[in-house]
Amino acid sequence: MKIITVKNAQEGGKVAFDLLKDKMSQGIETLGLATGSSPETFYEEIRQSDLDFSHMTSINLDEYVGLDDSSDQSYAYFMKQQLFDAKPFKASYLPDGKADDLAVAARDYDRIIAENPIDFQILGIGRNGHIGFNEPGTSFDATTQIVDLAPSTVEANSRFFDSIEDVPKKAISMGIASIMTAKTIVLLAFGEEKAKAIKSMVEGPVTEDLPGSILQKHDDVVVIVDEAAASLLTTQN
Ligand code: GLP
Repeated sequence: MKIITVKNAQEGGKVAFDLLKDKMSQGIETLGLATGSSPETFYEEIRQSDLDFSHMTSINLDEYVGLDDSSDQSYAYFMKQQLFDAKPFKASYLPDGKADDLAVAARDYDRIIAENPIDFQILGIGRNGHIGFNEPGTSFDATTQIVDLAPSTVEANSRFFDSIEDVPKKAISMGIASIMTAKTIVLLAFGEEKAKAIKSMVEGPVTEDLPGSILQKHDDVVVIVDEAAASLLTTQN
C-alpha cells in the first residue's frame, strides 16, 4: 500500500483527482464510486474540472435497502448531487435498494460488475474498518449481497438523517471479492475517528474482522489520509 499524508480533505481530494486524471489519460473506462463524506472533496475537484465522462461507466459500491433516488438520503441521490448532474457518464450503476427481489438485484449487480471491470475504485472506510457496507465478519469471498448494518455504522450514518430511527438497517453492497478485482484502488480517510481503522487496515493482520485489511493483498492501493487519520501509524511519510 502506498500511503500519502495530506494536510486536509481538500488536499486529499486534489491528490485523488490527479491520480484519476492520470489514469484517464491512459484510457481507463470504468470508475468504481463511493459515497460518504470522505470522497466529497474528490467529487468537488471533478465538478470543477474539464474532465469529460460521457464515454465512461461508473459503478457505485452500495445503496440502502428501501431508498431510491427520490429519497434525498439515498446514495443514488447523493451521487446525482455530487457528480452525475454535473458530469454525466455513458452509464451509471448503483445497486437497486428498492428491488422486489433483492437477491436477484444482487446477482444482476454482479453481472454488471463482470461486464464492466473496474479500473479505478474510490473507497472510504468506516470507523469499524468496513469498506462499501461490508461490515466486520463479512467473508472476503463475498460478491454483491444484502447486509445488516452494524449498530455503530447506523449511529455514524445517522448524522445524515433526521433521527437514528430513520437510518435503514440494511443495505445492498458490492462484496469484498468484487472490490478486490478493481485494478487501482484509492482510499480516502480524514479525521481522528478514522485513525484506529487506518492503523488496523495498514499495519494489522489481514482479517475478516477488519474488512479493509484485505487491501494489504492488493498490489495497487493508494491510501490518502490527513494527519489525524494517520496519527496512529507507526511509519508515516
Ligand atoms: C458508509 C459507506 C461507506 C463509507 C463509510 C464512511 O458506511 N457505505 O462506503 O466509506 O460510510 O463514511 P464517511 O466517509 O462519511 O466517513
